[in-house]
Amino acid sequence: MTRQPLIAGNWKMNKTLPESVAFTRDVVTALAAHPITVDVVVAPTLLAVHAVAQAAEGTPIQVAGQNVHPSESGAFTGEVSAPMLKAAGCNYGIIGHSERRQMFGDTDEFVQQKLRALLNHSLKPIVCLGETLEEREKNQTKERVSSQLSIACQNLTAEEAARVTVAYEPIWAIGTGLTASPEQAQEIHALLRQQLVESFGKNVANTMRILYGGSVKPSNIESLIQQPDIDGALIGGASLKVDLFTDIILTAQQFNEQS
Ligand code: PGA
Repeated sequence: MTRQPLIAGNWKMNKTLPESVAFTRDVVTALAAHPITVDVVVAPTLLAVHAVAQAAEGTPIQVAGQNVHPSESGAFTGEVSAPMLKAAGCNYGIIGHSERRQMFGDTDEFVQQKLRALLNHSLKPIVCLGETLEEREKNQTKERVSSQLSIACQNLTAEEAARVTVAYEPIWAIGTGLTASPEQAQEIHALLRQQLVESFGKNVANTMRILYGGSVKPSNIESLIQQPDIDGALIGGASLKVDLFTDIILTAQQFNEQS
């Protein structure tokens, strides 16, 4: 495999600052016996980003912001900018999560502006996209994810695209216990990969990671990551428990070593 798997935990609005730091230390301890060959990212709440980045320094864990505003600074109460995330120790930023899209009104265009801001500040975007249950039932999945991807990646050079990770997260699978079957996910991942090939060429598209997200847990990570176009996972619920999160990381790692 040419792509290094990425396992990312999105903690959403969970864990206080001390809990976040303690959790990070526990994950580091749990992984200490294993040389880690997959990329591991955690996205704590904003208040804990800096402390988690410090606790993770010198370990395989990297830190992501859960959101970002396109502007560098200004009168945007409650928001955070890319240079602020960077200065606090992040090197990734999650954008376009369905909770942001559904609850906070993030549009495809706004997600594209956020992606641009992250790239401008040397942060690696993890751009989430996915269909609702209604869209799936109406057979609109492909159209929906394809338009989300093309708007998010508008005006990117191939060099910029190479720094982007895509996360396919069917909304009906997030936090519901329902997971897309590995075949269902692979079908969409292959479609997204093909679109990336058309936009950025085969060489770049083949280095770009496409994560799956939606009720990933230790019992399903193996069958997901075995799919040729699934390069890791974006995990909500199961990333909040040390044993579940480390199990997922170690399973992905085992697969990486075998392939
Ligand atoms: P979940 O969340 O793993 O709890 O389904 C996934 C996500 O929101 O990224």
